[in-house]
Amino acid sequence: MTGPGVSGARMQGAAPAGGGLGRPISMEGVSRRYGEVVAVDRLDLQIASGELVTLLGPSGSGKTTTLMMVAGFTLPSAGHIRIGDRDVTHVPTHRRDIGVVFQQYALFPHMSVAENVAFPLRMRGIGRAERDDRVARALDLVEMSRFAARYPTELSGGQQQRVAFARAIVFDPPVLLLDEPLGALDKKLREALQIEIKALHARLGLTMVYVTHDQAEALAISDRVVVMNEGRLEQAGPPAELYEAPTSRFVADFIGEANFIRGEVASTEGARVRLGARGGARLEALAAPGLATPPAVGETAELMIRPERMRVAGIALGDGAVPPNTLIGHIEDRSYIGEATRLTVRIRDDLSVTLRYSNTRAAATGVAPGARIAVAWDAEDALVFPASSRATGA
Ligand SMILES: Nc1ncnc2c1ncn2[C@@H]1O[C@H](COP(=O)(O)OP(=O)(O)O)[C@@H](O)[C@H]1O
Ligand SMILES: [Mg+2]
Repeated sequence: MTGPGVSGARMQGAAPAGGGLGRPISMEGVSRRYGEVVAVDRLDLQIASGELVTLLGPSGSGKTTTLMMVAGFTLPSAGHIRIGDRDVTHVPTHRRDIGVVFQQYALFPHMSVAENVAFPLRMRGIGRAERDDRVARALDLVEMSRFAARYPTELSGGQQQRVAFARAIVFDPPVLLLDEPLGALDKKLREALQIEIKALHARLGLTMVYVTHDQAEALAISDRVVVMNEGRLEQAGPPAELYEAPTSRFVADFIGEANFIRGEVASTEGARVRLGARGGARLEALAAPGLATPPAVGETAELMIRPERMRVAGIALGDGAVPPNTLIGHIEDRSYIGEATRLTVRIRDDLSVTLRYSNTRAAATGVAPGARIAVAWDAEDALVFPASSRATGA
């Protein structure tokens, strides 16, 4: 069973070596209430067999609740969940055949690494010889064979998570659920394990649902990212699509960095929108994709432009007319951040923009704090959204 809109969603090169073990997951109209709180609100989500999908959203957006419902630890208040061709909405966890790596699902402290990994096999009544064989393979997969006899307290955080991963996959589940599994680890280790998880996913071919509030992590590991906001699905798509073509201000703001500049729609021409901003600036951009109502002349709207798509413009800062998509201001801050430099440019009291350039040898130099500069961008790199009440004035 494959749901609508999922064909082709799989990452290229992610074809399973293990022969297509994964099962599709389908959620239809799934809600979960806690009294007055709607933790998950009519979620429709189709996950393809073998896909690695990330649920991404701020704290409290319903990610864990969604995962708990797929796992069977929490029952939906409404809706249906299917795994493979079975409706599992009311099937208990132990009969769903899924592996879980949850933060609160720590390793058993009184069991060795090997005993921890063997546990799900013992629960399933698998005999000694096969158990030993599978435990060895699972530990080998996460490069923890040398630590089989150790106890959890004798392992680092990263090693513990590797063992938790081995324990979750040792019985070859077609579905693996992970809730912020790297949350407690430092950045370098997290990034290394992200690459390992991706590689393991590609090798095992199972369906993975991964929860994180870290947008960089979601972009790095996923075939597809599902952005959640207040229990609802805000947007779902491959990482590049969410970053390049957000369909809402929320997604544009949550994923990556973004500048928002308010203006009034002066004219439209197909997807192209011209805005007039305070101070006489003329802005031009493309209407954000998938808007319910495209920006109309006379309305207030917001232009979104990413810091790396802005540049220091080499124009004369005289009294002449300023070209479109150009703002003039003072450098308020210049931060050297290693691979890049970030400039904060104060345009007016109520508007500053951030721009970023790579520190290649040809990178802009001689832009010192206090200097008056022009910043510019291409219309094709900017998107227009309906104005929100949170917007900075322009
Ligand atoms: N067991 C519970 N009892 C009451 N409210 C809950 C419970 N679990 C979650 N919630 C509420 O549901 C919302 C979503 O929570 P959660 O799914 O944990 O979000 P996330 O994982 O995205 O941070 C929050 O408002 C949270 O307070
Ligand atoms: Mg959570």
